[in-house]
Amino acid sequence: MVFYASVNGEITPAEEARVSVLDNGFTFGDAVYETLRTYAGRPFHLDRHLERLRRSAQRLGIPMPADGALTRDLDALLARAANPESYIRIIVTRGRGDISYHFDRVQGPTVVMVVKPLAPFPPAHHTDGVPVILSSVRRNHPRALDPAIKSCNLVNNILAVQEAQAKGAFEPIMLNETGEIAETASANVFLVKDGALLTPPLDAGILPGITRLVVLELARGLALPTREEPVAVKDLLAADEVFITSTLKEVLPVATIDGRPVGDGHPGPVTRRLLEAIRDYAPRNSG
Ligand code: PDD
Repeated sequence: MVFYASVNGEITPAEEARVSVLDNGFTFGDAVYETLRTYAGRPFHLDRHLERLRRSAQRLGIPMPADGALTRDLDALLARAANPESYIRIIVTRGRGDISYHFDRVQGPTVVMVVKPLAPFPPAHHTDGVPVILSSVRRNHPRALDPAIKSCNLVNNILAVQEAQAKGAFEPIMLNETGEIAETASANVFLVKDGALLTPPLDAGILPGITRLVVLELARGLALPTREEPVAVKDLLAADEVFITSTLKEVLPVATIDGRPVGDGHPGPVTRRLLEAIRDYAPRNSG
């Protein structure tokens, strides 16, 4: 299976792609990224992903090429890879530096895109739900490293995922510093209670997920009451349904939390309806 990469527009098999060991992305994690996927070969909501990438880069003062240039490079890479469906990672680093905090010496940015065949989840993940844990690792405090910045500095997430994997769980749900639900290591969290859809607000210290926003939009279209409000652990444990959302996971039902079944332990009607809705919406918004 060949992965392809583009480094500042130069396309090669990913194995042959080269970035300097002096690149700030490597030496400092001084980089931002986006993960996208295709439907019918075309990226889902490229517009929203590029907008968020630009916002992340701005927060770090990393200059960004124009959307037109990024889109052209991505189109060329997708054409070269010719996968039926692709996983896409776009990384923008500050560039090549001298292993110091002298940002004026950095030559950049470095724009890396990697495309690999999309490996779908086993269908049972979506039909039966997945086990999650409440992680002992807190999500980064927004005043330390704001989770709204989608940075390549993923150590906070790695610590939580390692804990989840050690416990045989699919994902860790992380709390914020005040002990409310924040998000998982790679997805946003929703719950359904008495027919209403609840999700933590952006100021809970989370990534503004693109799937999260699409789900809120779809829910409103389905006349489901939605609320963005702080979610306590006890609310999550008492929910009728819980699901997590991301580009790759779409709407993924949670079957158990720390081994305790959510609702009756099977994906509920609201979750199933929203999964169906996003799978209908996504191909129509991939271009
Ligand atoms: N993860 N929260 C975190 C911490 C994430 O890393 C992600 C995305 C999300 C969901 O965002 P979106 O719906 O825009 O994909 C929430 C991607 C998929 C990743 O890490 O590869």
